[in-house]
Amino acid sequence: MTLLELDGVTASYGPVQVLEGISLSVPEGGAVGVLGANGAGKTTTLRAISGAVRTGGTLRFDGRDIKGLRPEQVAALGIAHVPEGRGTLGQLTVRENLAVGAYRRRDRRAIAEDVDYCLDLFPQLQERVGSRAAALSGGEQQMLAVGRAFMARPRLLLLDEASLGLAPGTAKTVYAAIRRLRVESGIAMLVVEQNANLAFTLVDTATVLETGRSVLTGTSAELAGKDEIRRAYLGG
Ligand SMILES: Nc1ncnc2c1ncn2[C@@H]1O[C@H](COP(=O)(O)OP(=O)(O)O)[C@@H](O)[C@H]1O
Ligand SMILES: [Mg+2]
Repeated sequence: MTLLELDGVTASYGPVQVLEGISLSVPEGGAVGVLGANGAGKTTTLRAISGAVRTGGTLRFDGRDIKGLRPEQVAALGIAHVPEGRGTLGQLTVRENLAVGAYRRRDRRAIAEDVDYCLDLFPQLQERVGSRAAALSGGEQQMLAVGRAFMARPRLLLLDEASLGLAPGTAKTVYAAIRRLRVESGIAMLVVEQNANLAFTLVDTATVLETGRSVLTGTSAELAGKDEIRRAYLGG
């Protein structure tokens, strides 16, 4: 069943329209990539879903029209957003950041189990649970941002450039953990990534954006085999 559906979605910042027609769908438990050059509208697409920009067109989540909802209403429906630049709370500790992710929940025992799960998923965070987020490395902050989003127990995770600014080995580690999270939790994912090779290790299908429109959709294998995709996003 389709969990998230975007059809002809437009979005504007003030008078400036930057999305001109985005169409994509994420099946329940599926993982879908959003690829495209800098400025193509990837981040804005995630912000449109989260209710952070003014949108037009069709946005449906779990069969329900979510256009015009405020960010906290979207989050309450079960959509968690890991923004570009991670968005962890620097003055709070790792453990406190994870607790903030669970702030809508009341199931204290399950919350404690999920904290343990995050620390198992990202062992690097184990020895840092008492450290402030601001003191973590970029990779650790990205891990924490993913863990915090998981703590909300969403049905859909929006991930914006989880590999940005990380050393290649660290980016691989982060993606391996996200793959494991996907398999073990069944959470659906919409994954914005400039590094298409890395995205293809996680997603089943992907949509390519060009100047605010979706222009191509295919399976990871189909897209990885296309010359124009290789040239534009895979470094030849
Ligand atoms: N807050 C903003 N105000 C005005 N224009 C913006 C804002 N954020 C992004 N844009 C513009 O919207 C377009 C799409 O940006 P963005 O969604 O961030 O692209 P991507 O994530 O693919 O790099 C770009 O032309 C960018 O300059
Ligand atoms: Mg972006």
